[in-house]
Amino acid sequence: MYGIVNKAIQGLVTEKFGVEAWEQIKEKSGVKHDTFLSNEAYPDEDTFKLAGAAAQHLNIGVKDVLVVFGEYWVLKTGMQHYGSLMRSGGNKLKEFLINLPNFHSRVMLIYPNITPPEFKISDVSENTLRVHYYSTRSGLTYFVYGLLQGLGKMYNTAVQIQLADEKEKGKDHDVFEVSW
Ligand code: HEM
Repeated sequence: MYGIVNKAIQGLVTEKFGVEAWEQIKEKSGVKHDTFLSNEAYPDEDTFKLAGAAAQHLNIGVKDVLVVFGEYWVLKTGMQHYGSLMRSGGNKLKEFLINLPNFHSRVMLIYPNITPPEFKISDVSENTLRVHYYSTRSGLTYFVYGLLQGLGKMYNTAVQIQLADEKEKGKDHDVFEVSW
Protein backbone atom coordinates (compact mmCIF):
# COMPACT_ATOMS: atom_id res chain seq x y z
CA MET A 1 0.00 0.00 0.00
CA TYR A 2 1.02 3.57 -0.46
CA GLY A 3 3.45 4.90 2.13
CA ILE A 4 0.83 7.23 3.55
CA VAL A 5 -0.84 4.20 5.15
CA ASN A 6 2.36 3.07 6.92
CA LYS A 7 3.11 6.66 7.85
CA ALA A 8 -0.27 6.87 9.52
CA ILE A 9 0.47 3.72 11.56
CA GLN A 10 3.75 5.38 12.57
CA GLY A 11 1.89 8.58 13.50
CA LEU A 12 -0.67 6.73 15.57
CA VAL A 13 1.88 4.67 17.51
CA THR A 14 4.21 7.64 18.05
CA GLU A 15 1.42 9.94 19.26
CA LYS A 16 -0.02 7.40 21.67
CA PHE A 17 3.04 5.49 22.85
CA GLY A 18 6.12 7.51 21.86
CA VAL A 19 9.00 7.24 19.40
CA GLU A 20 10.63 4.45 21.36
CA ALA A 21 7.60 2.19 21.01
CA TRP A 22 7.51 2.87 17.27
CA GLU A 23 11.19 1.97 16.86
CA GLN A 24 10.62 -1.30 18.72
CA ILE A 25 7.51 -2.16 16.72
CA LYS A 26 9.27 -1.42 13.43
CA GLU A 27 12.22 -3.57 14.54
CA LYS A 28 9.91 -6.40 15.58
CA SER A 29 7.97 -6.23 12.29
CA GLY A 30 11.09 -6.86 10.23
CA VAL A 31 10.15 -3.99 7.89
CA LYS A 32 13.41 -2.47 6.78
CA HIS A 33 12.42 1.03 5.65
CA ASP A 34 13.50 3.88 7.91
CA THR A 35 10.90 6.25 6.52
CA PHE A 36 7.91 5.90 4.22
CA LEU A 37 7.16 8.22 1.34
CA SER A 38 3.44 8.99 1.13
CA ASN A 39 3.34 8.77 -2.61
CA GLU A 40 5.28 5.57 -3.10
CA ALA A 41 3.91 2.01 -3.18
CA TYR A 42 5.16 -0.52 -0.59
CA PRO A 43 4.26 -4.21 -0.36
CA ASP A 44 0.92 -4.77 1.42
CA GLU A 45 2.82 -7.23 3.55
CA ASP A 46 4.72 -4.35 5.22
CA THR A 47 1.46 -2.82 6.41
CA PHE A 48 0.21 -6.12 7.81
CA LYS A 49 3.56 -6.81 9.49
CA LEU A 50 3.50 -3.39 11.17
CA ALA A 51 -0.08 -3.88 12.38
CA GLY A 52 0.82 -7.37 13.67
CA ALA A 53 3.93 -6.15 15.48
CA ALA A 54 1.98 -3.25 17.02
CA ALA A 55 -0.65 -5.68 18.33
CA GLN A 56 2.05 -7.90 19.82
CA HIS A 57 3.98 -5.03 21.35
CA LEU A 58 0.88 -3.43 22.89
CA ASN A 59 -0.54 -6.78 23.90
CA ILE A 60 -3.85 -6.27 22.11
CA GLY A 61 -5.54 -8.09 19.22
CA VAL A 62 -4.86 -7.22 15.58
CA LYS A 63 -8.58 -6.47 15.19
CA ASP A 64 -8.33 -3.84 17.93
CA VAL A 65 -5.29 -2.27 16.24
CA LEU A 66 -7.23 -2.10 12.99
CA VAL A 67 -10.28 -0.48 14.62
CA VAL A 68 -8.16 2.18 16.34
CA PHE A 69 -6.24 2.72 13.11
CA GLY A 70 -9.49 3.17 11.15
CA GLU A 71 -10.64 5.90 13.53
CA TYR A 72 -7.24 7.56 13.38
CA TRP A 73 -7.29 7.45 9.58
CA VAL A 74 -10.53 9.43 9.41
CA LEU A 75 -9.93 11.83 12.29
CA LYS A 76 -6.22 12.53 11.82
CA THR A 77 -5.00 11.53 8.37
CA GLY A 78 -8.27 12.44 6.67
CA MET A 79 -9.46 15.48 8.59
CA GLN A 80 -6.08 17.05 9.33
CA HIS A 81 -4.33 16.46 6.02
CA TYR A 82 -7.21 16.21 3.53
CA GLY A 83 -9.92 18.23 5.30
CA SER A 84 -11.53 19.67 2.20
CA LEU A 85 -11.60 16.27 0.49
CA MET A 86 -13.23 14.71 3.57
CA ARG A 87 -15.77 17.52 3.87
CA SER A 88 -16.63 17.23 0.19
CA GLY A 89 -18.07 13.80 1.04
CA GLY A 90 -21.17 15.31 2.60
CA ASN A 91 -22.71 17.45 5.32
CA LYS A 92 -23.88 14.59 7.45
CA LEU A 93 -23.00 10.96 8.05
CA LYS A 94 -25.80 9.54 5.92
CA GLU A 95 -24.81 11.71 2.97
CA PHE A 96 -21.12 10.79 3.34
CA LEU A 97 -21.95 7.08 3.35
CA ILE A 98 -24.25 7.35 0.34
CA ASN A 99 -21.40 9.11 -1.49
CA LEU A 100 -18.75 6.66 -0.22
CA PRO A 101 -18.73 4.51 -3.40
CA ASN A 102 -17.29 7.51 -5.29
CA PHE A 103 -14.89 8.71 -2.60
CA HIS A 104 -11.71 7.01 -3.78
CA SER A 105 -12.14 8.25 -7.33
CA ARG A 106 -11.39 11.68 -5.82
CA VAL A 107 -8.56 10.20 -3.72
CA MET A 108 -7.13 8.91 -7.02
CA LEU A 109 -6.65 12.48 -8.24
CA ILE A 110 -3.94 12.63 -5.54
CA TYR A 111 -2.82 8.97 -5.57
CA PRO A 112 -3.54 7.78 -9.13
CA ASN A 113 -2.10 4.29 -8.89
CA ILE A 114 -3.76 2.96 -5.75
CA THR A 115 -5.84 -0.20 -5.67
CA PRO A 116 -8.88 1.32 -3.97
CA PRO A 117 -11.56 -0.47 -1.98
CA GLU A 118 -15.00 -0.78 -3.51
CA PHE A 119 -18.12 0.17 -1.57
CA LYS A 120 -21.81 -0.24 -2.35
CA ILE A 121 -24.70 1.09 -0.30
CA SER A 122 -28.07 -0.64 0.10
CA ASP A 123 -31.18 -0.76 2.28
CA VAL A 124 -31.19 2.97 2.94
CA SER A 125 -33.85 4.17 5.34
CA GLU A 126 -34.23 7.11 7.72
CA ASN A 127 -31.68 5.99 10.35
CA THR A 128 -29.88 3.03 8.87
CA LEU A 129 -28.19 1.67 5.79
CA ARG A 130 -25.89 -1.14 4.72
CA VAL A 131 -22.30 -0.63 3.60
CA HIS A 132 -20.94 -3.39 1.36
CA TYR A 133 -17.15 -3.57 1.29
CA TYR A 134 -15.31 -5.38 -1.51
CA SER A 135 -11.54 -5.62 -1.73
CA THR A 136 -8.81 -7.46 -3.52
CA ARG A 137 -7.16 -7.59 -0.07
CA SER A 138 -8.10 -9.68 2.94
CA GLY A 139 -7.91 -8.90 6.62
CA LEU A 140 -9.09 -5.30 6.58
CA THR A 141 -12.66 -5.83 7.82
CA TYR A 142 -11.98 -4.27 11.21
CA PHE A 143 -10.14 -1.37 9.60
CA VAL A 144 -13.41 -0.54 7.86
CA TYR A 145 -15.27 -0.98 11.16
CA GLY A 146 -12.95 1.64 12.69
CA LEU A 147 -13.32 3.92 9.66
CA LEU A 148 -17.10 3.87 10.10
CA GLN A 149 -16.73 4.64 13.80
CA GLY A 150 -14.38 7.49 12.92
CA LEU A 151 -16.93 8.90 10.49
CA GLY A 152 -19.53 8.85 13.27
CA LYS A 153 -17.15 10.90 15.42
CA MET A 154 -16.34 13.25 12.57
CA TYR A 155 -20.04 14.04 12.23
CA ASN A 156 -20.69 14.02 16.00
CA THR A 157 -23.20 11.28 15.40
CA ALA A 158 -23.59 8.27 17.68
CA VAL A 159 -23.42 5.19 15.46
CA GLN A 160 -24.07 1.50 15.96
CA ILE A 161 -22.22 -0.80 13.60
CA GLN A 162 -22.97 -4.46 13.11
CA LEU A 163 -21.14 -6.88 10.88
CA ALA A 164 -24.01 -8.51 9.02
CA ASP A 165 -21.85 -10.67 6.71
CA GLU A 166 -18.14 -11.47 6.69
CA LYS A 167 -15.80 -12.47 3.91
CA GLU A 168 -13.81 -14.36 6.52
CA LYS A 169 -16.86 -16.55 7.10
CA GLY A 170 -17.11 -17.52 3.45
CA LYS A 171 -19.35 -14.69 2.23
CA ASP A 172 -18.60 -12.88 -0.98
CA HIS A 173 -17.82 -9.62 0.83
CA ASP A 174 -18.24 -7.82 4.18
CA VAL A 175 -21.54 -6.13 5.01
CA PHE A 176 -21.87 -3.53 7.77
CA GLU A 177 -25.22 -2.41 9.07
CA VAL A 178 -24.83 1.16 10.21
CA SER A 179 -27.49 2.88 12.34
CA TRP A 180 -27.48 6.31 13.94
C1 HEM B 1 -8.99 11.84 2.61
C2 HEM B 1 -9.29 10.63 3.00
C3 HEM B 1 -8.72 9.38 2.40
C4 HEM B 1 -7.57 9.18 1.70
C5 HEM B 1 -6.50 10.21 1.33
C6 HEM B 1 -7.51 7.76 1.37
C7 HEM B 1 -6.47 7.17 0.70
C8 HEM B 1 -6.26 5.80 0.62
C9 HEM B 1 -5.04 5.18 0.16
C10 HEM B 1 -3.80 5.92 -0.36
C11 HEM B 1 -5.19 3.84 0.29
C12 HEM B 1 -4.15 2.75 -0.06
C13 HEM B 1 -4.49 2.00 -1.30
C14 HEM B 1 -3.25 1.44 -2.01
O1 HEM B 1 -2.12 1.82 -1.68
O2 HEM B 1 -3.42 0.63 -2.96
C15 HEM B 1 -6.52 3.62 0.82
C16 HEM B 1 -7.04 2.39 1.10
C17 HEM B 1 -8.26 2.19 1.69
N1 HEM B 1 -9.21 3.15 1.99
FE1 HEM B 1 -9.00 5.13 1.80
N2 HEM B 1 -8.62 7.13 1.87
C18 HEM B 1 -9.39 8.07 2.50
C19 HEM B 1 -10.59 7.87 3.14
C20 HEM B 1 -11.22 6.66 3.26
C21 HEM B 1 -12.53 6.46 3.83
C22 HEM B 1 -13.43 7.57 4.40
C23 HEM B 1 -12.78 5.12 3.78
C24 HEM B 1 -13.99 4.33 4.22
C25 HEM B 1 -14.88 4.70 5.07
C26 HEM B 1 -11.61 4.48 3.20
C27 HEM B 1 -11.45 3.13 3.02
C28 HEM B 1 -10.28 2.53 2.58
C29 HEM B 1 -10.02 1.09 2.65
C30 HEM B 1 -10.95 0.04 3.22
C31 HEM B 1 -8.75 0.88 2.09
C32 HEM B 1 -7.99 -0.45 1.95
C33 HEM B 1 -7.91 -0.87 0.52
C34 HEM B 1 -8.58 -2.19 0.23
O3 HEM B 1 -9.59 -2.51 0.90
O4 HEM B 1 -8.15 -2.89 -0.69
N3 HEM B 1 -10.70 5.45 2.87
N4 HEM B 1 -7.15 4.83 0.99
